Amino acid sequence: MPAPAERAEELREAIRHHDYLYYSLDRPQISDAEYDRLFRELRALEEEHPELISPDSPTQRVGVEPLEGFGQIRHLEPMLSLANAKDEVELRAWHARVLRLTEQAGFAPEELRFVAEPKIDGLAVSLRYEEGRLASGATRGNGVIGEDVSQNLRTVGAIPLRITAAQGAVPALLEVRGEIYLPLSAFERLNEQRVAAGEPTFANPRNAAAGSLRQLDPQVTASRPLTIWNYGLGFVEGEQFESHSQVLAWLAQHHFRVSPDVETASDVDELVAIFRRWEARRGELEYDIDGVVLKVDDRGLQAALGSVGRDPRWAVAYKFPPSTAQTRLRRIGINVGRTGVLNPFAVLEPVQVGGVTVGLATLHNEEDINRKDLREGDMVVVQRAGDVIPQVVSPLTELRSGQEQPFRMPEHCPSCGTPVVRTPGEVAIRCPNPDCPQKLMQLVEHFVGRSAMDIEGVGKKLVHRLFALGLVRDPADLYDLRYDDLIALEGFQERSVRNVLAAIEASKERPFGAVLFALGIPHVGAQTAEILIKRFPSVADLREAGAGEIAEIPQIGNVIAQSVADWFGESRNQRLAERLEGVGLRMRAEVQEEAAGPLAGRTFVITGTLPSLSREEATRLIERAGGKVTGSVSGKADYLVAGENPGSKLEKARSLGTAVLSEHALEELLGG
Ligand code: IVH
Repeated sequence: MPAPAERAEELREAIRHHDYLYYSLDRPQISDAEYDRLFRELRALEEEHPELISPDSPTQRVGVEPLEGFGQIRHLEPMLSLANAKDEVELRAWHARVLRLTEQAGFAPEELRFVAEPKIDGLAVSLRYEEGRLASGATRGNGVIGEDVSQNLRTVGAIPLRITAAQGAVPALLEVRGEIYLPLSAFERLNEQRVAAGEPTFANPRNAAAGSLRQLDPQVTASRPLTIWNYGLGFVEGEQFESHSQVLAWLAQHHFRVSPDVETASDVDELVAIFRRWEARRGELEYDIDGVVLKVDDRGLQAALGSVGRDPRWAVAYKFPPSTAQTRLRRIGINVGRTGVLNPFAVLEPVQVGGVTVGLATLHNEEDINRKDLREGDMVVVQRAGDVIPQVVSPLTELRSGQEQPFRMPEHCPSCGTPVVRTPGEVAIRCPNPDCPQKLMQLVEHFVGRSAMDIEGVGKKLVHRLFALGLVRDPADLYDLRYDDLIALEGFQERSVRNVLAAIEASKERPFGAVLFALGIPHVGAQTAEILIKRFPSVADLREAGAGEIAEIPQIGNVIAQSVADWFGESRNQRLAERLEGVGLRMRAEVQEEAAGPLAGRTFVITGTLPSLSREEATRLIERAGGKVTGSVSGKADYLVAGENPGSKLEKARSLGTAVLSEHALEELLGG
């Protein structure tokens, strides 16, 4: 019988080996049961001899407590981004420039070789290994400073907790870069579970991966089968690499997950051919890709080529064109929005577009349909570009049989049958019935939304069920929901019911600005609501104000002013406001000193995609703390809040010496 320390090490090595086979190579050699047996034996041994536990033991992937918030990590080497080539012409131009600069740098043109990798649509992370042990892991952030998501990255099975060197020593310090993603099948499963739980679904695998990685509770991250493709290094100490292909080979040898489909090529025609091959197999992959990344292989040459801002000259993202497909337009359906506007949408024969099945697409309005001459029964071209909702581009008129029907907007509301009205000068057609059930349902959906009352756990699906059961007819009814109403719903357990009720209760703390936005007054977005309450800090003030008085606010035009006055003029709206006040919602703004707060006198610019806040949310937080938000970086701006893909504003801010903040740093400034 070996000593416990020896046995523990044996087990760890075996588990690491099987993790590698399973997570990185997708080629398990033992059954789950056998694996579990090894794992349980190790865990038992560690329980008995806690002194044997090491942080890189496979048992230590999840264990720690949820965090309060994410810290920050400064990358040792900045995380660069990539310039795009959107078509072959741009690719050839990039190649020609690289060739010219290669010769200028004193390299022979024959030395110019490229590596082609899939461009994975996930999120970039940097893994820091100190003496071969995973020390921390961070998101890209603004490229210089990212968020510390170490706890969560440790739960990703494909990420080695330690680097074992077959020969030679491990590098003293190393940043491994890669893209975290959620396999498509896992994404679909996750969304199905969320629908069943009445939770909002993720729009795409990328958002799902980002949401999963940015969990404060690592248990949640561990429950999502995230994985990674590694595509490079940041800072390196204690190892030398001459080429990018050497880097990839080294990573693979050291059990990092590297795409097996990486290719090398020398001339530009080969690069185009590689791109075409990826485009053709895009739909068969287990993950989303949005193009191919081409990199100059020689690291010496990479250094000589340098970068322009954050974009290295030695690499380019050759992006797929928006994917299109052909299918039949079965019919044109009509949705009634919360303001009563009738929105047409396309019901399609389901078709694969860019790897995703599309059955519905937006159609903007009647004019748009007529301009494109779309008819029910037409074969049509459907397009999907990135995250964007699929669109119907055009009909294939040459395929018409003559049976296709030109489209007319209905004369009656499809939900309640009320004759529709057309406002002269507006394209929109509206259902004027204030009791229209679909309109009210959409209003409730809007009401519970994140920028409105932010009632978590009450999503579209649940709202539909509550309407179907007659439990909710308008927003105020949400506050009358009782335990017994919800526990009777299929799929609801005590805990989920309590969560929903708690979220509804918590929404009573939402500030008046959010309530005003939640009311769904036509033309009043979240920002307009904030502007309105500065002059009219309560519902009573707004009710008494006429359109003329409201229009005196500089940022408010006549259309908005009239819309607000009309809304408060309706007795049913007044009743709704009264009922909401009655259940305890805030109907007046907290008294606020003009420009008081921690950020008083400071001016901010926001750029790029922030990890969790939308731009409006960030603006709101800054303004509430007394700060100002403007659109362009000039000498007047004190801070640039930069998210993913910050663009030229970041360069500008750097050149002006403007302080650059991550979302996290902004939150710190705001006082946590
Ligand atoms: S290289 C040159 N390689 O694309 C250094 N990036 O648009 C830049 N990405 O932030 C990164 N697949 O998140 C590289 N094979 C790949 C990639 C890849 C996806 C992402 C990465 C990066 C973004 C830049």
